[in-house]
Amino acid sequence: MRTFTGRTAVVTGGASGIGYAMADRFADEGMNVVVADIEQQALDTAVASLARPGVEVLGVRTDVSDLDSVQALADATIERFGRVDLVCNNAGVETGGTFLNIPESAWRWVMDVNFFGVLHGCQVFLPLLEQQEEGHIVNTASVAAFNSGTPTMTPYCASKFAVLGLSECLDIELRGRGSTVGVSLLAPGPVKTRMTEAERNRPRAVPKAAEPERLAVIENLARLSEEVGLDPADVADQVLGSVRENAFFVLTHPDSAVAGLERRLEWVRTGTAPAARTAGT
Ligand SMILES: NC(=O)c1ccc[n+]([C@@H]2O[C@H](COP(=O)([O-])OP(=O)(O)OC[C@H]3O[C@@H](n4cnc5c(N)ncnc54)[C@H](O)[C@@H]3O)[C@@H](O)[C@H]2O)c1
Repeated sequence: MRTFTGRTAVVTGGASGIGYAMADRFADEGMNVVVADIEQQALDTAVASLARPGVEVLGVRTDVSDLDSVQALADATIERFGRVDLVCNNAGVETGGTFLNIPESAWRWVMDVNFFGVLHGCQVFLPLLEQQEEGHIVNTASVAAFNSGTPTMTPYCASKFAVLGLSECLDIELRGRGSTVGVSLLAPGPVKTRMTEAERNRPRAVPKAAEPERLAVIENLARLSEEVGLDPADVADQVLGSVRENAFFVLTHPDSAVAGLERRLEWVRTGTAPAARTAGT
């Protein structure tokens, strides 16, 4: 995508962290921005702070796990701006535990938001994007899409593998039929956001994870993100550049993604399973 000024971007999970930073970066480019998030209060705060002269910002409370809610987001976008050019399917959550201690409800929640949220965004917005002369979809996965084996994060890892698979297949299909819509896969490593507090949005049916193994992983992740996490604004800059260049992989920590792939390749080639990893390695 080459033109940003006056165009419209939709960002899910846009009230916090990486999503907010992307919305902010797109607004800097003169795009009108639609911020979608499940947290109403954070959404109101985000909309107020994103406002700047020459840019219109619309906040739409959205639950990406619900197809009707994503359709309502698209309807509100078209009603306000008449077009949509860039969609970032970014909302994500995380909970887990050791395998036999992860309830069905936790699996459903993580897959519903992380995978079905991305799927809904692609299903609903692709036909609208294809009405424009150029358009782009950015799906947020994680380095966890390349690295299996982080203890207690199995649902998150599975959901991000699924986002990677969906995005690769979609990109190949769209390129194959000469679509005007490009696809990027954002796979961040540690970024300073509220991700380790994701359970703040868990549905009532999902118990708060409390196993010692689990709490240790979250504590480690929070420390890692604090100590070496990227500023979300730097991630947003990288996303903008990749959308401009129509680059598929947006890797904030490419060495980690490649190391994960190499470990798995070795596993496939030799049959020798890699050891468990600690968060962030
Ligand atoms: N922060 C990291 O280190 C990191 C690393 C890899 C991948 N990611 C991914 O980046 C994305 C953004 O997360 P973040 O790190 O900015 O975390 P964050 O918690 O700061 O932001 C996530 C946002 O998603 C919203 N959200 C949660 N459930 C939702 C739903 N059902 N519908 C709509 N919005 C919902 C939250 O309210 C929040 O505003 C996620 O997909 C996450 O998996 C983050």
